[in-house]
Amino acid sequence: MIGNLNHVAIAVPDLAAAVKTYRDTLGAEVGTPQDEPDHGVTVVFVTLPNTKIELLHPLGENSPIAGFLAKNPAGGIHHICFEVADIEAARDKMLAGGARVLGDIKTGAHGKPVLFLHPKDFTGTLVELEQI
Ligand code: CO
Repeated sequence: MIGNLNHVAIAVPDLAAAVKTYRDTLGAEVGTPQDEPDHGVTVVFVTLPNTKIELLHPLGENSPIAGFLAKNPAGGIHHICFEVADIEAARDKMLAGGARVLGDIKTGAHGKPVLFLHPKDFTGTLVELEQI
């Protein structure tokens, strides 16, 4: 059911330092920071030939990644995102299989419908599904 790896999201404590690492050390194509107040993050997209990296930094009081960074002060992989053709069908399949779906289908950082799945049901990794 899942298709391409759309992105790997990495929570970072210092966005400027992370940008420098990806742009200067790794030589990647790195975008400019975008505030996403609805999601409580500032995002920088790193475009790779076959996928993207999203550098996430907390924005505002109740950022969903603040707790993650408190536990992982150096930063770390926060979630991975797979593409699906039909997000509602994917949600129904997950629920039918007993997987925990976190919240409702929302509009993600790319303006497309997304859904998050509980890490405990997916080998310890927070999984995002995005309808493409
Ligand atoms: Co994501």
